[in-house]
Amino acid sequence: MTTHLDKNPNLYHRLELRNLLQESPYQAYVYSYPHKTAYRPIEPPISLSELWSKQDKNALFLYIHIPFCEMRCGFCNLFTTVTHNEDFVSQYIKAVKRQAQRVKAALGETSFARFAIGGGTPTQLPIGGLEAILDIASETMGADLPCIPGSVEMSPETVDKDKLNLLRSRGIDRASIGVQSFIDAEVLAIHRRQKSQQVEDAIALMRKAGFPTINIDLMYGLPGQTVDTFLYSIRQALQFQPEEIYLYPLYVRPLTGMGISNREWDDIRLACYREGRDFLLAEGYTQVSMRMFRAKQSTTFEGPVYCCQADGMVGLGCGARSYTDSLHYSNDYAVDAKEVREILQVFINKSDESFAYANYGFLLDEEERQRRYILLSLLSDEGLSFAAYRQQFGTDAIADFPELSQLISLKLANLDNATLRLTDFGVERSDTIGAWLFSDKVQQLMQTYELK
Ligand SMILES: C[S@@+](CC[C@H](N)C(=O)[O-])C[C@H]1O[C@@H](n2cnc3c(N)ncnc32)[C@H](O)[C@@H]1O
Ligand code: SF4
Repeated sequence: MTTHLDKNPNLYHRLELRNLLQESPYQAYVYSYPHKTAYRPIEPPISLSELWSKQDKNALFLYIHIPFCEMRCGFCNLFTTVTHNEDFVSQYIKAVKRQAQRVKAALGETSFARFAIGGGTPTQLPIGGLEAILDIASETMGADLPCIPGSVEMSPETVDKDKLNLLRSRGIDRASIGVQSFIDAEVLAIHRRQKSQQVEDAIALMRKAGFPTINIDLMYGLPGQTVDTFLYSIRQALQFQPEEIYLYPLYVRPLTGMGISNREWDDIRLACYREGRDFLLAEGYTQVSMRMFRAKQSTTFEGPVYCCQADGMVGLGCGARSYTDSLHYSNDYAVDAKEVREILQVFINKSDESFAYANYGFLLDEEERQRRYILLSLLSDEGLSFAAYRQQFGTDAIADFPELSQLISLKLANLDNATLRLTDFGVERSDTIGAWLFSDKVQQLMQTYELK
């Protein structure tokens, strides 16, 4: 059985940071901590009401996962499956509703500060299904959708006027579309059938529906792509003046149907990243993280604020993760089509009672909580404020993790006003720095994870 270690032998060894910098900057996408491949079965299962009773529930993030797509892209290892079987989809939504009822009962009095429907491709749902998911969020879970930021992911072929109007009328203010490239041959090479005219029509419809925030995902490092064609795609995206743009380096992971890999590819990705970043900065965008760029004038939401380093997340649906201070949990994970289908079937067949327990996840002790806080702070433009860290943990970040000073000596970060912030060089090495911050325990669990 192949493990992550076979594919990334260096990343998960305790190498010196200076040695890790000699490796590819593109080893694995680090966007959360601990990684879901560090999750394991929990014995005995933990009751959600007991778990959440110890948690501050004033500013939670509600996330609903829709694991359906109309195609399986060659690079993607998200938890999703291709289906056009309406009965299966409707059984899934019913299971999410049963889960929501149990979870809500376990949570008790709660206030949500953010909401997102992700996937997969949420707009792959028929309009009635989308409506049912919004009802679960507002009626079953009690999220005040018009008053909190809410986001939905979509792909070009699944966007239509009625779905967009429904989402907007229910208070969704951010629509995010996966474009990847405006060149048809480049998207075809990663097994996407979309045509650029269709993409442009879809974004125009999103604008017309009145979403205050539109996000466009683009990728670099695609087969046949050059720096020039990547810049062409960015220019095409800018025609629509998106409030946000994500630039994703292509990662090809085990079991995802592609197999390109060489040093030249790293050089192209690095060149695309640098040119793309400089272009967006010159166009008035601010860089929030290695991947995320935000238009300067874009609106910020007034209302309860969710802090990703410290606040909890309630995930519904198969493939969604939930976070409390002490436990991150979800259900089993897979990429292979047959395994994903089986896990989905198990989810659909679950008893109501079993939705009231967490049985797969990762327990965080104080050190893991500190690592998570540092990692999420450092990988965004906020940086790691020592005062905020002390307020959260009562200790000094550098005393707890003296190795952080290496970031400064290797010119990956600067210390400014008692805040450690990545330099330009540090930002482009975000994924290396993130993985370097993983604890030995998490690295070991990731090494021994058997990818299905
Ligand atoms: C859930 S999808 C967005 C919505 C929709 N499913 C789609 O693909 O159009 C999330 C985004 O993550 C990015 N992504 C996913 N897997 C990736 C990978 N292996 N390498 C780089 N980017 C990836 C893509 O840009 C994709 O648009
Ligand atoms: S990139 Fe988007 S559309 Fe493609 S398989 Fe992944 S989730 Fe589905």
